[in-house]
Amino acid sequence: MKKVIVYIGLFIGLFFCIGIFCYIRYINSSNHQTKKYIQSLKSKINYYIPTYQQRYIDYKQKHWNLSDEDVVTYVNLNLDKNFYTNTFPSPYQNTKYILINKFYYVDKKYVPNHLKIIKNCTKGNIYLVEEALTHFEQMCKDIKKENLNIRAISAYRDYNYQLNLYNRYLVNDTKENVDTYSARPGYSEHQSGLTVDIDNLVTDFNDFESTDEFLWMQKNAYKYGFILRYPKDKENITGYMYESWHYRYVGKKVATYIKKHNITFDEYYARFLNTMVNYS
Ligand code: DAL
Ligand code: ZN
Repeated sequence: MKKVIVYIGLFIGLFFCIGIFCYIRYINSSNHQTKKYIQSLKSKINYYIPTYQQRYIDYKQKHWNLSDEDVVTYVNLNLDKNFYTNTFPSPYQNTKYILINKFYYVDKKYVPNHLKIIKNCTKGNIYLVEEALTHFEQMCKDIKKENLNIRAISAYRDYNYQLNLYNRYLVNDTKENVDTYSARPGYSEHQSGLTVDIDNLVTDFNDFESTDEFLWMQKNAYKYGFILRYPKDKENITGYMYESWHYRYVGKKVATYIKKHNITFDEYYARFLNTMVNYS
């Protein structure tokens, strides 16, 4: 009987040792794989931020199907955090590269320099930053040559305007819903003075997608430095539903790259402009 107990004890002991051995091998190999993964990110992605290492690993584990470039891009954009958490003042203020989204905001008092009233192709008293305005008016002139029309229906909006707009939406809708189509005050790109909502004079702006003017914009807006800021199927990145009427001036070079590579301005920012942020 004693012998049997000893054998059982030995068997359990052996089993336990094998278990520990396998576990250590597993940990070593997964550590090895993680190290290899990080090495490969570091070596091939030049917008890799060393202090974000653990966030890249965690994000990849949750989104294993994403490419390495997208993992780094999305984490750099803070998309591993909830919208409106971890917010920073927008870098590149008063330049055409300013990023305003659900992580980057401008101050209540922020008013861009060189705001000018739009004279042609506008519904009313609407302002844009001069450089964007020049290109917008040229675009409008050129589209007319093809018997098409665009006009600005909203462009620069100050903090209080956006505050009232957002609060008005909240009267009839939940905050969760409103956040999908309206920016909170301080977080609206309209406050940059580089953004313009357009229609074609006859169709409701909500249906701008159904117009010939929209097709023209899809083909030509980048030549004037404008991009569709909230495209279809990019809601997870921009945080907003598709807006076929909302265009952002970023300059011809950036607009051309964004169009060619089918990315959002947020992604462009994370890859090429994100050098001024404190990465702690
Ligand atoms: N509709 C856009 C997201 C804004 O409110 O700025
Ligand atoms: Zn807009």
